[in-house]
Amino acid sequence: TSDRPVRVAVIPGDGIGTEVMEPTLGVLEAVGERHGLTFEWRHHDWSCEYYTRTGRMMPQDGLDRLAEVDQILLGAVGYPGVPDHVSLWGLLIPIRRAFEQYVNLRPVRLLPGIESPLRLREGSSIDFVVVRENNEGEYSEVGGRMYRGSPHELAVQESVFTRRGIERVARYALTLAAERGGTLASATKSNGIIHTMPFWDEVVRETAADFPQVEVRDYHIDALSAMFVLDPGRFDVVVASNLFGDILTDLGAAIIGSIGIAPSANLNPEGVHPSMFEPVHGSAPDIAGQGVANPLGQLWAASMMLDHLGHPDAAAEVVAGIEASLTSGMRTPDLGGTASTTEVAQVVRDHVTGQG
Ligand code: NAI
Ligand code: MG
Repeated sequence: TSDRPVRVAVIPGDGIGTEVMEPTLGVLEAVGERHGLTFEWRHHDWSCEYYTRTGRMMPQDGLDRLAEVDQILLGAVGYPGVPDHVSLWGLLIPIRRAFEQYVNLRPVRLLPGIESPLRLREGSSIDFVVVRENNEGEYSEVGGRMYRGSPHELAVQESVFTRRGIERVARYALTLAAERGGTLASATKSNGIIHTMPFWDEVVRETAADFPQVEVRDYHIDALSAMFVLDPGRFDVVVASNLFGDILTDLGAAIIGSIGIAPSANLNPEGVHPSMFEPVHGSAPDIAGQGVANPLGQLWAASMMLDHLGHPDAAAEVVAGIEASLTSGMRTPDLGGTASTTEVAQVVRDHVTGQG
């Protein structure tokens, strides 16, 4: 990988997406220099702002252009005035599906120096990973609306679960659990949702037969959510459908102290297509333009990209830089500090280049 630059599509998006992206590229360049990695950034202004100008979230050939890169870094999209389903279905979901990014990987780890809003048991910590199915499930286009505006109006939305779709995400989660020497919790709701969820459970079980060393336990999603709050220390790897995983990971981001820290990787594990790395948070219109957005979620997402590129040492240096920034006390307002986005990113950069 060191003989040619890594081609990265950079899509800062809207609001604070643009503010956290720029310093992140600086940190990536700094860490890359130490590991023989260079980057070729391909900047795209695809966003809600682009939508208001062009009527599209990305150009007609947007996916073709992304197909030419190695990886994609995304900030956040969404802005008041453009409906959220437009920004999601016009950019994020097409990218996730076209490039078979069927794993959405979201680490839930309480970093040193951060206080969880939970009262954790003595000696207990939060360190697990949620593997969210990212291509099918509840977020489907199958369905429709009838009799609009009449008293008989109705809406039907079908979930789509396939054996292939469940199997591949379960296999990824089981492999991860085996590597971590841990257990797998599978989110279900087979008591209430009587077709797709028993099917999910069956395919997870069948796949788990190849991983005798991994203990698998099913949790109904409601009880699982409660357990995230009451006893997060029990989890190693959690596998969940698209909707369940989406909800669980916002809860996961909340219990590790701030949504501004949580990262997310949309992975095509086989590397046939580019993967996409983004913070969990959105464009935060309430603080956009003030220069105070926490850059750590974007930086942690960037470190996941380094991992996926086969540079775990470089990835670990960025995470160490994030931890150094937290223990230094240089924090953005969401963590109770007064530092700016660029000041926090600079601490990470200094640490990575060995000056910190
Ligand atoms: P949000 O994550 O943008 O903001 C929620 C709250 O957390 C706000 O009070 C915000 O100030 C704060 N926050 C978020 N990130 C922060 C950071 N890095 N540093 C400090 N504070 C931070 O979620 P919200 O308000 O529900 O959505 C705003 C827009 O973002 C909407 O248009 C939504 O559709 C979009 N969105 C986009 C996502 C994406 O691009 N993947 C994900 C989530 C939301
Ligand atoms: Mg979400």
